[in-house]
Amino acid sequence: MNREDFTMLNNNIVYFDNGATTLKPKCVIDKMNAYYLEHTSNIHRGDYDAAVKTNELYDNVRNIIGNFINADPECCIYTSGATMSLNMVVFGYMKNHLKAGDEVLLNKGEHASNILPWIRLSEEIGIVIKYVPLDENYALTLDNIKKCVTDKTKVISLAHVTNVIGDVRDVESIGKYCHDNNILFNVDGAQSVPHLKVDFKNSYMDFLSFSGHKMCGPTGVGVLVGRRELLEEMMPLCYGGGMNAFFEDDNSYELKEIPIRFEAGTPPIAEVIGLGEAINYLMSIGMDKIHAHEVELKKYLIEKIKDIPNIILYNKDSDSGIFAFNVDGVFAQDVSIFLNHYNIYVRAGNHCAKLLKDEINIKNTVRASMYFYNTFEDVDRLVEALKNSKDIFKIVL
Ligand code: ALA
Repeated sequence: MNREDFTMLNNNIVYFDNGATTLKPKCVIDKMNAYYLEHTSNIHRGDYDAAVKTNELYDNVRNIIGNFINADPECCIYTSGATMSLNMVVFGYMKNHLKAGDEVLLNKGEHASNILPWIRLSEEIGIVIKYVPLDENYALTLDNIKKCVTDKTKVISLAHVTNVIGDVRDVESIGKYCHDNNILFNVDGAQSVPHLKVDFKNSYMDFLSFSGHKMCGPTGVGVLVGRRELLEEMMPLCYGGGMNAFFEDDNSYELKEIPIRFEAGTPPIAEVIGLGEAINYLMSIGMDKIHAHEVELKKYLIEKIKDIPNIILYNKDSDSGIFAFNVDGVFAQDVSIFLNHYNIYVRAGNHCAKLLKDEINIKNTVRASMYFYNTFEDVDRLVEALKNSKDIFKIVL
């Protein structure tokens, strides 16, 4: 659907690397261009017409985000992306609220951005990281989480949808469990917010992070959403202009209110405006429709591919548009290069989920990740190409 909005699709490519980044519709690019061509100005500083227009557009994106994921607009902080958002949670909040011996539950399906900051925090203050085992389908269940919880468990941190297995975690039930047991619930929404309806408040999330570029928006912008009481206690990681109420030569200073105190310096203005346009665009299609389409595409792919004997599939039961596989005996990157020969764009490697190897027993996979503009014909092209995979080495070498 909506393929005409994406110029890159005119090049006869199959773009299946949406987990890494998505294509950008023309309306997003036009909106950003208008800022650069017609009303360039900084925000919250100028009194002239262009600045007033920029302020209005920029500030209004918080309302768009809040409405999109059911959160208070003032609790939506603009960041540079999900990675920065997750780092802000760990080093801006957790560092000052956890102590040595406190336990944080992660799992081995997570992206580096939801593991490495915690490892670093364990070095700094002595928190203990525990990995909840995944089930036989590499999914994370509430039952397995409960088995790992002790009276020292202070945080459960997980991706709503993982970036390789693509399993959709039951955040409503896990969030409720955290809420009832006084455990902080930190959610990486990088692979979920672009693809399905996410409800911050009704899933009892304490923090939610996501990126603009994986949801039809520009690179360089993302969001951290937090519960107001927690944000009031979170320390900024960055200090400078725009975020302070005053400072004096006796070292006294006061920060502005949330969320502005977390947005020091000139922010990515065009990108924030572009993100707002991207969200409006997604909402005009409908998140339920987007998710349903991706699931249909994946079902279709699994049905078509099951007769190709040398394909190893890792996630046939996960309810998202992510398809992780290998061609038996072939290095994943060779498959990716082979598919490029057919103008099919996928990602190969460990996808930054470097602990997943302990669960699936292999380091690298090929990942085809879908979005609403992918079609059944795209899937057919992938399947037809993979039928020729016996020729991989003729093409790749
Ligand atoms: N995190 C992105 C991915 O999974 C880059 O591909």
